Amino acid sequence: MKKALWFSVMSLGAFILLLTGCRNSSKTAIAENTELSVTQLIEKGNYFVTIMGCNDCHSPKELGPQGPEVVPDLMLSGYPALRPFKKVDPELIKKGWILFDADLTAAAGPWGVSFAANLTSDQTGIGNWTEENFRRALKEGRYKGLEASRMLLPPMPWTNFTGISNDDIKAIFQYLKSTKPVSNVVPLSISPVQNQ
Ligand code: HEC
Repeated sequence: MKKALWFSVMSLGAFILLLTGCRNSSKTAIAENTELSVTQLIEKGNYFVTIMGCNDCHSPKELGPQGPEVVPDLMLSGYPALRPFKKVDPELIKKGWILFDADLTAAAGPWGVSFAANLTSDQTGIGNWTEENFRRALKEGRYKGLEASRMLLPPMPWTNFTGISNDDIKAIFQYLKSTKPVSNVVPLSISPVQNQ
């Protein structure tokens, strides 16, 4: 009799554990997917863009006391179209060097010269992109996020991002859509042959 009582107390305990366990996991899922307001989603996206280093290449910078600092008005606007282009010495590339413009918004290597894209909410940035375009660009490395477009060139580190969840993509995209629009048509990439 004692044994039977003990057994039922144990099973009740296990049942409660199971129940709270289920409840907790469903709570997490809800918080990740739908419990965020648009403002919270934008904050989450801002957090990702900051810690994932998108500004390293996508934001023009000026030299400050601590080294290169993002120019706030040009944040995430890519390589400035009006900046005079500094011709790259093909001999250095042949020797195996990869060269960056001083603020990392342009890079030259065996792939030619690539210019970091404008990611602001302007029409010349991602202003008229869909979330699907953004997902395809970031996770599949497709230029402009179009199905049949060319692959993104180095040093865009898209292969690091193939495992991003759709929730996180959504947050980053919402944040980029909320940025100050900066009109800047980034130059087309230059092929290695053109650069000789
Ligand atoms: C190491 C430099 C570097 C970092 C870091 C970087 N990017 Fe890029 N990104 C580039 C370059 C360069 C291009 C242009 C590549 C090309 O022309 O093929 C690019 C292109 C893109 C494109 C495609 C734009 C288009 O018009 O097709 C998107 C979207 C993008 N980056 C988003 C991001 C996001 C979001 C982050 C941070 C999570 C990030 N990038 C981090 C260098 C970088």
